[in-house]
Amino acid sequence: MKKNKISKNWIKKQHSDIYVRKSKIEGYRSRAVYKLEEINNKFKIFKNGASLIDLGAAPGSWSQLAEKKIQNSKILSIDLKEIVKIGKTEHIVGDFKDDKNKKKIKDYFGKKVDIVLSDMAVNTTGNKSLDSIHTCELAIEAMNFSKEILKNNGKFVSKIFMGSSFNEVLILGRKIFKKINVYKPPSSRKDSKENFIICQILR
Ligand SMILES: C[S@@+](CC[C@H](N)C(=O)[O-])C[C@H]1O[C@@H](n2cnc3c(N)ncnc32)[C@H](O)[C@@H]1O
Repeated sequence: MKKNKISKNWIKKQHSDIYVRKSKIEGYRSRAVYKLEEINNKFKIFKNGASLIDLGAAPGSWSQLAEKKIQNSKILSIDLKEIVKIGKTEHIVGDFKDDKNKKKIKDYFGKKVDIVLSDMAVNTTGNKSLDSIHTCELAIEAMNFSKEILKNNGKFVSKIFMGSSFNEVLILGRKIFKKINVYKPPSSRKDSKENFIICQILR
């Protein structure tokens, strides 16, 4: 499909989407917020006093939700893009894969953290299997980083795309964590290969 046809379809979908309308009414920057809310309702990710890293945070609805739901939180977000400041959340503009940025994240907390979230996704090219491979590569990188920075009872939630790399993510997840769930929140578009992996308790 041509690129301008993809974006016309995207705009049409956005207009008719109840989650887009709901996010506008409730003051969230993206419909993505409902995916995290549904994940949290099912797996109880948030807890008061938690320290949290939001990877691929722009435009910022996941950080908005985390700030709202977690009392006394300490939140750091990172994205290739700048975001409009959210409460006390600190933001790094840069590539998460860059070691310099990983060090910045570690230095910011100075100790292990409770929660790592990753909604990172590459810009879609229209080639679904290639997009899915690249997004799973980001999930793998985020998972390996989580192993280094999470507390033993920490939680890692990441976007993944069903496709040829899915098994690789699952195998690594099982090596690093004791408990793994794969979940497609109701607000995740039915025609998308998007799913989320919820990993808890380090081995
Ligand atoms: C689906 S959006 C995230 C939406 C966000 N969770 C929200 O609720 O507003 C995916 C984001 O991942 C970011 N991203 C992709 N690759 C990245 C990388 N290597 N480092 C940092 N951010 C990245 C993109 O810039 C994009 O903003």
